[in-house]
Amino acid sequence: MISNEIKSLINKQINDEIWSAYLYLSMSLDSYYKDYSGAGQWFYVQAMQEIDHARRLQKYLLSQGQHVDLLPIDGVPTQWTSLLTMFEDAMNHEKAITKCINNIVNQAKEEQDYATLSMLMWFVDEQIEEEQTALTMVNKLRAAQGNSCYMYEIDKSMKTRKYRRVLHNRSEQWL
Ligand SMILES: [Fe+2]
Repeated sequence: MISNEIKSLINKQINDEIWSAYLYLSMSLDSYYKDYSGAGQWFYVQAMQEIDHARRLQKYLLSQGQHVDLLPIDGVPTQWTSLLTMFEDAMNHEKAITKCINNIVNQAKEEQDYATLSMLMWFVDEQIEEEQTALTMVNKLRAAQGNSCYMYEIDKSMKTRKYRRVLHNRSEQWL
């Protein structure tokens, strides 16, 4: 069984993941408004995946006999000056999320809570991918600055992103 400290950290992380979904949904809507439908699709998929992350943590708390206490969701920015600033914000946000995950890992290590550590390793790996993906987009958009043809191509390529439900390796029962 997990400690109260771990329970409350995971409970807060659920809120952060749902806030992430809210942030990316806002980025999606601002992209569609600016006629970047590829970025709109890309961020919509990102938002859906954040809900899956929250779901994974919710399932873990339940598996530990814990109640999930959903917290209020803070507001998010609603407009960005460019796709580049949007992706820079996304990249910085993912770095902040990595720190939150690492903080829970540190606590679980201190408590020798191996079940929580095992569960969190999926998130550690996921954050490597999240940060790398955001950085790649930032680099592409920086290179495209002032080149509308290149911007059009980048937006078009983002439209190909499809939502796939993120499942646990061992059992589809997780989500
Ligand atoms: Fe996430």
